[in-house]
Amino acid sequence: MAHINENYLKLPGNYLFATIAKKVADFSQKNPNANIIRLGIGDVTRPLAPAVIEAMHKAVDEMGKAETFRGYGPEQGYEFLINKIIEWDYETRGIHLDTDEVFIGDGAKTDVACIQEIFDKNMTFAVADPVYPVYLDSNVMAGHTGEFIDLKGVYKDVVYLPCTEENGFKAEPPKDRIESMELKNCCFPVPANKKKEHVDLVYLCNPSNPTGTAMSKEELAAWISYAKETNAILLYDSAYESYITEPNIPHSIYEVEGAKDVAIEFRSYSKSAGFTGTRCSYVVVPKTVLAYTAKNNAISLNQFWNRRQCTCFNGTPYIIQRAAEAVYSEKGRNQCKADVDYYMENAHIIRDGLQAAGYTVYGATNSPYAWVKTPANMKSWDFFDLLLEKAHVVTTPGSGFGPHGEGFLRLTAFGTRENTIEAVHRIADLKLIK
Ligand code: MLT
Repeated sequence: MAHINENYLKLPGNYLFATIAKKVADFSQKNPNANIIRLGIGDVTRPLAPAVIEAMHKAVDEMGKAETFRGYGPEQGYEFLINKIIEWDYETRGIHLDTDEVFIGDGAKTDVACIQEIFDKNMTFAVADPVYPVYLDSNVMAGHTGEFIDLKGVYKDVVYLPCTEENGFKAEPPKDRIESMELKNCCFPVPANKKKEHVDLVYLCNPSNPTGTAMSKEELAAWISYAKETNAILLYDSAYESYITEPNIPHSIYEVEGAKDVAIEFRSYSKSAGFTGTRCSYVVVPKTVLAYTAKNNAISLNQFWNRRQCTCFNGTPYIIQRAAEAVYSEKGRNQCKADVDYYMENAHIIRDGLQAAGYTVYGATNSPYAWVKTPANMKSWDFFDLLLEKAHVVTTPGSGFGPHGEGFLRLTAFGTRENTIEAVHRIADLKLIK
């Protein structure tokens, strides 16, 4: 008799965006004439850049000729793309990487969901609250958490880092508040005096999904010190870096001293080049990031991620990697930047329009997400339902990202200009703020 992975039973419901899609589909079926504007899931609407399309066409033609046809590529990705990444995303910021420290993937969602596989099953991890649900759910499925505590909306044995208005929605290194946490066998050696506050892995998203706020170099430096002192590893998701506008927000964690000893970085072309449906990403695993065997022998995580990828992944398609390479051409850079600017203009329209209507709005300055406080202490899901029913606007309820997201709603700037303006008018016209 086959037994299922019971960890899946700990998950309280469907994946957040699947739940929203179902609610919207039901509403749409009952209200076929409603002109629904979707500002929920962060899915882009601008077409791929012409330089990207041109590169894809060329690659398709190559695949049709025996002389240029490609079968399996390197599991780690083609060097033509890795070299461009190193040159444009890192060397321009004074960061040196070796080609075997970059791994091309088929989307940051896959990469961030799978990275936990290379760590000990008893590891302890910390996530921001609210948080992009994939970090948490993937660890639940792998059995790295205890049961879900319905009343609190949290899993046992997970360290949550509250991101609130008071701390500017910035995850802070865990201190005394986790003293009550039951410590499991940590997979890294823990200095004795640090035991109480130890976590093995910390997921950081900067700029943050969902709150849209961003940590500065100094704030990240505090995380790096914490990781060094406690032998923790930082899993740094930088999927929204192209939306950064303020100079003190780093685009890569490796801009901060010491990060190469403790951080793995995730990047995506989904939001920077419109690849949500095209799927391409990369992970940087510096060879200097170490974890330990049960006998305390240090091993480079680079070697483990490489082994994992070679076994479980056959590489991102050649055509897609050629498309991603074109993002770095002069035309590609300009065209993708124009799309990012377009979305940022939407973000400002949302932020400024809702503020003018009396709402408190965060984010939308270094991020395509606006984090909006619900009116009159309304619950996130109630406000979500109200906006869907009365304004026909789809959003994402903050509580779907974790208990500290309660009382907020996320709006994405990835819609068309016309829809964005219309959605803001419709929400303002409800006059929910007195
Ligand atoms: C989001 O809306 O949070 C993202 O689009 C989801 C994702 O990138 O997987």
